[in-house]
Amino acid sequence: MRAVAKAPGKIILFGEHAVVFGKPALAMAVNCQARVEIRRVEEEHIQITVPSLDVTGTIKGDGVLECSGTGKQGILNYILQSIQLAELEGGLEVHVELEIPIGAGMGSSAAVTVATLAALAKLEGQALDRGLLAQQAHQVEQLVQGAASPLDTAVSAYGGLVHLNRDGEVENLEVPGPLPLVVACTSSRGNTGELVAGVRRKRSHYPGVVDPILEAMEQITIQARKALLDGEKEVVGGLMNINHGLLDALGVNTMELSTMAYQARAAGALGSKITGAGGGGAIIAYAPEHFDAVLSKLREEEEAFPVELSIVGVELE
Ligand code: MEV
Repeated sequence: MRAVAKAPGKIILFGEHAVVFGKPALAMAVNCQARVEIRRVEEEHIQITVPSLDVTGTIKGDGVLECSGTGKQGILNYILQSIQLAELEGGLEVHVELEIPIGAGMGSSAAVTVATLAALAKLEGQALDRGLLAQQAHQVEQLVQGAASPLDTAVSAYGGLVHLNRDGEVENLEVPGPLPLVVACTSSRGNTGELVAGVRRKRSHYPGVVDPILEAMEQITIQARKALLDGEKEVVGGLMNINHGLLDALGVNTMELSTMAYQARAAGALGSKITGAGGGGAIIAYAPEHFDAVLSKLREEEEAFPVELSIVGVELE
């Protein structure tokens, strides 16, 4: 018995961090994914291998997780929580192929979680239910990270360009024309749980300052949604730049991220900003013109690559 599922990573265009406080956000699934293969096995163990991260975790009868390999083991928690949630009994072997950089704000944990839950559901003979998977994966992210909005998991489950409204409702939007975007990753990685907690602390220390920032972020997402749908490129870029400044004000920026954001603008990007939790991780640059110049400028120092919208969400293989 074997099941395989794939789910895409994501970038957040507008509204990260604010979305944790119930504000709307816009994000899109991108063309890199997590592929999770799960087999039922005779051995009474759960074994998880993630070769691209050089991580292996095994749980035997005593319930203790033994890890080997040189990579970061955090991703194992998402898989184990998913298995626990699915209440599957018996031995399992889980093999993960990950094209999404981890800790880069590109939704690697959400994609792995959604794909794991989809494969587990298939093993139990259930049909693919994106709404249910998004909901369950959000539950897993909350358990592992302490706090998480439903955004990343919704994008991985549904694919496409996603607007999440104040009530957590997901809407797939159709953008007229391409979205020329470059992602550039810093060498340092952010910890989403800690960064979200840091913003929460800042808000409790300075509610009169932080609440208006979150409200401004909400306005940005509202106006950016309209500008994207109307093809108003300058407005989209301008709003990205303001969003970056506000994320800086929330304390999730780094010198490396800002340097890349400004380099992208100097090379001709209409807008650039942190994408995801920040604190390291990645920026996006929106470059309807001078795309190649922006890409090569960012590649001078860091790993940079074009990303494309993936209209496909989680899928069974
Ligand atoms: C992380 O990709 C985005 C954050 O807004 C956290 C979340 O939405 O759970 C920082």
